[in-house]
Amino acid sequence: MRKIIVAITGASGMPYALTLINELKKNKQLEVHLIVSDAAKKVLDLEASGYEDILALTDYRYSQNELGAPMASGSFQHSGMVICPCSMATLAAVAQGLGNNLIHRSADVTLKERRPLVLVPREMPLSRIHLQNMLTALDAGASIMPPCPGFYHQPRDIQDLIRHVVSRIMDALDIENQIFPRWKG
Ligand SMILES: Cc1cc2nc3c(=O)[nH]c(=O)nc-3n(C[C@H](O)[C@H](O)[C@H](O)COP(=O)(O)O)c2cc1C
Repeated sequence: MRKIIVAITGASGMPYALTLINELKKNKQLEVHLIVSDAAKKVLDLEASGYEDILALTDYRYSQNELGAPMASGSFQHSGMVICPCSMATLAAVAQGLGNNLIHRSADVTLKERRPLVLVPREMPLSRIHLQNMLTALDAGASIMPPCPGFYHQPRDIQDLIRHVVSRIMDALDIENQIFPRWKG
């Protein structure tokens, strides 16, 4: 079983996280380890009714305070971590290598072990600090994937836009998906 760590932090964009979990769990070969920050719970309450059912699809669930969880150690072998959505606070913590909560620590460990780390940052506009933190994280090995859906696949509704973003995130984690037809030129 391939293990994927999904962290949800307190930025807007919870439908991305829920669609991502839903799509990941369609693949029976994936074990999803979920970490939800305290702030994310508040934003989930605001943005996504009935989200508990989707979160319950995951195989293991942790709070941000469980610093003794397996992914806090480099000996936990996984295929990648995604922080979706990624708040500017968590981005800053990742860029600076802070390990104060399980999300920060797991991201730090993922980078040091040279495993894929995908950040889905959400803020607008971006300050110099945000941009610098993204560059620092990129230089350390993270993929920076702001949720900027394309329109060339002629989306019919918001879910089509979300699925486009989720498909690219899964591509970055090297997870096979056919969420929508690929551009063939
Ligand atoms: C409704 C709501 C929406 C928010 N949206 C964003 C956002 O889009 N981007 C962001 O960086 N922070 C956003 N925040 C602020 C973060 O939740 C806050 O900085 C928090 O400390 C992040 O903590 P975490 O990274 O540990 O989840 C939002 C907060 C609330 C209550």
